[in-house]
Amino acid sequence: MQKQVNEMNYEEKEELLKQIIQDLKETLSENRYLHCISTMKKARQMAQKYNQDEQIVMLTAVAHDIAKEMSNEEMIKYAGENNIKLDEVDKMATMVLHGKIGADMVAKKYGFTKEMQDAIYYHSTGRVNMTMLDKIVFLADKSENRRQGKDADKLRNIIEKEGIDEAILWDIDYYTIPRTIEKKKVIHIESINARNDITMKLKMEV
Ligand SMILES: [Fe+2]
Ligand SMILES: [Fe+2]
Repeated sequence: MQKQVNEMNYEEKEELLKQIIQDLKETLSENRYLHCISTMKKARQMAQKYNQDEQIVMLTAVAHDIAKEMSNEEMIKYAGENNIKLDEVDKMATMVLHGKIGADMVAKKYGFTKEMQDAIYYHSTGRVNMTMLDKIVFLADKSENRRQGKDADKLRNIIEKEGIDEAILWDIDYYTIPRTIEKKKVIHIESINARNDITMKLKMEV
């Protein structure tokens, strides 16, 4: 049985991090592997800034795309064999599906906790009541330094100058949803739920 992350001491978590990095290096393309490392580094900076457990944040962030290079058929097959419930939108929203599959894999393979699994599960869409870990993984993925272009620059700027909730809202409204529409793909309901939730909370703060 895989030991649970919340039962591991500092050194065991360091070992696990090394093991995950090695596994990703062996299984992902170089580009995706480098994206995972860069996401981990960005997430670590955010963990320091927002006083979060660095090890938990780094473990979760580095593993967020563990299932990203599986084909749609492979993911649907994995879901069937591992009792993961998928609706029709899930099956069509490839962008989202790898989070759901990845969340299951990290629990079985590495003993990730429910909180860590959730951050991977929702890393592309967000959700209602996002935890700090959810927010860091969501934003580190989209703002890591290897991401180039004006959208990534804009997102990094909003994270820096306005805040993380504002940045998530901007990403969903001006990046994720418009891009999904452009590609004529389905918009996942969790993206809408996340943006409505954050919009209401930001309005209440004013
Ligand atoms: Fe992803
Ligand atoms: Fe990613």
